Amino acid sequence: MNSLWVTWPALVKYGTLGITAGLLTLAVERNELFENNLFDFERWDEYNAEINCDERSLTARTEDGSCNNIENPAEGSVDRRFGRNVELDVAQGETGDMLLTPNPRDISNAIMGRDEFKPAPTLNFIAAAWIQFMTHDWFSHGQGSTDDYIEFDLPANDPDAPGTMSIRRTIPDPTRTQAEDDAGLPDAYLNENTHWWDGSQIYGSDLATSNSIREFQGGRLTVNADGSLPTEFMSGVPVTGFNDNWWLGLSMLHQLFVNEHNAIADMLASNYPTQDDQWLYDKARLVNAALMAKIHTVEWTPAIIANPITERAMYANWWGLAGNTENRDKYAAEFDELAADLARRDSWTRRILGFDPKMEEALDNGKALEWALTGLAGARHSDNAGVPFTLTEEFVAVYRMHPLLRDNVDVYDIGSNVVSEQIPLNATRDGNAEQILDDQDADRLWYSFGVTLPGSLTLENYPEFMRNMHIPGRGTVDLAAIDIIRDRERGVPRYNEFRRQIGLEPINDFTDLTEDADLVAELRRLYNNDVEMIDALVGQLAETVRPEGFGFGETAFQIFIMNASRRIITDRFYTEYYTPEVYTQEGYDWVENTTMVDILKRQYPSLDLSLAGVDNAFKPWGLNIPAEYDNWGACSKQDLLWTNGVLRTEYDAGELPAIPEVDIGGLISGVIRDKVEYVGDVAPVGHAKPIHPHGVMAKVAFNSTGNHPYTGVFKGNECGLLRLSVTGDPADRGFAPGFAWKTLIDGKPSENISALYTLSGQDTNHDFFANEMSNYVSLESNATLGSSLLFSFVTAKPNLVMANAMAATDSSGNEEANAVSPTQVYFVPTAEVQGLFDTAEHDFRDDLMSLPQGTKLYDVYATDMEIKSSIWSSKQARLQAERRADAVKVGELVMDSNFAASQFGDSGVFFKHERYEDAN
Ligand code: HEM
Repeated sequence: MNSLWVTWPALVKYGTLGITAGLLTLAVERNELFENNLFDFERWDEYNAEINCDERSLTARTEDGSCNNIENPAEGSVDRRFGRNVELDVAQGETGDMLLTPNPRDISNAIMGRDEFKPAPTLNFIAAAWIQFMTHDWFSHGQGSTDDYIEFDLPANDPDAPGTMSIRRTIPDPTRTQAEDDAGLPDAYLNENTHWWDGSQIYGSDLATSNSIREFQGGRLTVNADGSLPTEFMSGVPVTGFNDNWWLGLSMLHQLFVNEHNAIADMLASNYPTQDDQWLYDKARLVNAALMAKIHTVEWTPAIIANPITERAMYANWWGLAGNTENRDKYAAEFDELAADLARRDSWTRRILGFDPKMEEALDNGKALEWALTGLAGARHSDNAGVPFTLTEEFVAVYRMHPLLRDNVDVYDIGSNVVSEQIPLNATRDGNAEQILDDQDADRLWYSFGVTLPGSLTLENYPEFMRNMHIPGRGTVDLAAIDIIRDRERGVPRYNEFRRQIGLEPINDFTDLTEDADLVAELRRLYNNDVEMIDALVGQLAETVRPEGFGFGETAFQIFIMNASRRIITDRFYTEYYTPEVYTQEGYDWVENTTMVDILKRQYPSLDLSLAGVDNAFKPWGLNIPAEYDNWGACSKQDLLWTNGVLRTEYDAGELPAIPEVDIGGLISGVIRDKVEYVGDVAPVGHAKPIHPHGVMAKVAFNSTGNHPYTGVFKGNECGLLRLSVTGDPADRGFAPGFAWKTLIDGKPSENISALYTLSGQDTNHDFFANEMSNYVSLESNATLGSSLLFSFVTAKPNLVMANAMAATDSSGNEEANAVSPTQVYFVPTAEVQGLFDTAEHDFRDDLMSLPQGTKLYDVYATDMEIKSSIWSSKQARLQAERRADAVKVGELVMDSNFAASQFGDSGVFFKHERYEDAN
């Protein structure tokens, strides 16, 4: 723990005890912050005198946020001051030269601007829009003064130099008194929104706004017939609680949660038919606001700080406080373990945490466990730790997350990974947003946001359009320069002092922040080699030492753990009034049981497949196999693998990967064993195909002739996947086609069969359909690949893949009482494809991808003659010919889609081989 950077997130490597120790550290830390870092200087009494809390306000959120705390009714309401998380004497706004040093535009140009897009890999773009949506619930400092500007020269090398840049000054609280001036209090700024987590971005922070969005029937909010929001006549921006800084992402989220409100109101109206509009509206708002708060706490936050300790801490924040016994039970055992450890003389937890002085004290006064448990068991009463609740300037400062934004919105068709349209993000702003939402369709946009990544919160990643952004009525601004100026003018301390104030170690040198030598040089230049001058935002973005899984650095996190908990713990409607009595049982259950994925699926059923297996809507959507996947119907499984596997990962046209040589080493090292032991349609993570690495896949149907004895899948299979490939680079060992067919089965795991022409292939003939293929091929004396030898490590009959399992269960999942299985199956190219392709050297994948859906590919033949082999090649040939002659046509394999080449087809899909041993 001597490190400059906090090390507790790494405790996860010690397993459960490490995680509980981490939670303990976090709880103690938060407690410290509550004790030392809450400062408030609002004149509450003056405002309280004007407020009368009526009967309704006891069980409903008021429009302006008053009466949440009955004892201090103005607490957290609109137009009240931001509080502070640093001592008031270091919170004085900067003035004069200091305010302008270093030149904010120089900082913006030199280290903020995006040279190339740096993605945040663990989140998706929904997460970026979401956090702005949340900050619009929490706070706004307003549009700034139109007659008081901060003005400074453009740096000499600026593209627009010479010239000046002027930025509107934030308007300070106009009611400030002489006494406050005399007392030397810092300037105060008012929050234009209520401080509470009450959905005010939708419902507004005053009665007039709230009334402007209501239908006044059934508790509903006003929407157009198609579910879109009414817009303002002049700006084209939706009429809603807070509509500043509008763009497409906000249109999507506002529409989603306005419609969610109406779904809740309709549900309540049907359960409580005698209740009036006001009652229904109030309850629906309570539920909707709590749902958003819960989603933020247990879904968004664990996505951006994906560490097991913080994930549990966030669960505790929500379910701990709500007293959800199920979750409490889940962790109870872990805390017993912690208690037992702490009671031991040689306690591991004490040893690992004890040398931090704060921790030592905490462990010694016996409160440690209580603190850790408080997080989990939660408060049944709201508790503002003795300081009236407000959000703080430091809280606003750490949410300056503009680098999350991309330069373009990439629009995809649902299921696809090919960008169908790229819209500059700047072109989706203000009045354009609703039009784009309408033109592109909300479900496609949600899919698109789900699969694209936001920018990472680092230096040199600020969207360029925002550094030169036109704001209606305000002209062109550089938002990066504004972000820097705002912290300075509002007295947010510079980075090192900020860290000291919130209990973190200050840095000693620029190299503590980053190892990037160029960046360090620029930082030294800008800040005149003085670490104390580094701006709070610059330091935060520069912190490259980030705890495992953290999307932002520890400085922001420190502010965050305090305020995230406080927003909940101080709010009467998230503590003692978060009950079925106040919310209604149905409303309470709605909050507890609904996730972001549920909302998206309910409102956009077309996203069902894309969200299959996705448990956190803020993490990049991809192919996820849900736990109950095997129970699905065959065609749903086919659909999932096709849409979310193949189509999503299709290679761009003209960019097929080159086919490498067979990876013999990879073959030997256990992969062959996987091939027979692993069960599942999707390969384990990290699986690579050392043999048959590239090919194409199509959906196929098997139409049985009905005129044969074979059972199970041989009676017909509507939904299958066929992969056609070659063993390795044809230039290396000749052209060796391979065939793998996955038959999907209702409610049961799939059955698979694979086939070859011979182990070593067909020499220089590149016509994929030159030869028939079979699940049994003769061993060749000249098996150049040595494949038979390799496969013999895992099976006694390396040249045979069994078909027994395919005969045991039919496509509807019924077990066959008297299964009849062929011994050998032949896949014979049909007349439609025979002779269609060139035999000369070329890429077979292009041939196959040119075939239209509906093409009959193979006539399938089968025999049940025993497979006997002989070491005499003439006898072997005779035995083979006899079996082939005995085989009857059992059906046809027909393409049910085109063929596509995809990453999923090459490394994701898994075809199990049935061994001779498994079937006998
Ligand atoms: C296209 C999208 C966005 C636009 C056009 C936009 C624009 C703006 C503008 C014009 C301001 C006020 C600047 C000033 O103080 O003069 C601002 C402030 C801010 N923005 Fe954004 N923003 C966007 C997205 C985001 C996102 C994704 C976040 C993430 C959290 C964010 C967080 C903030 C914060 C925390 C402030 C400070 C608010 C305050 O001072 O009370 N913004 N933004």
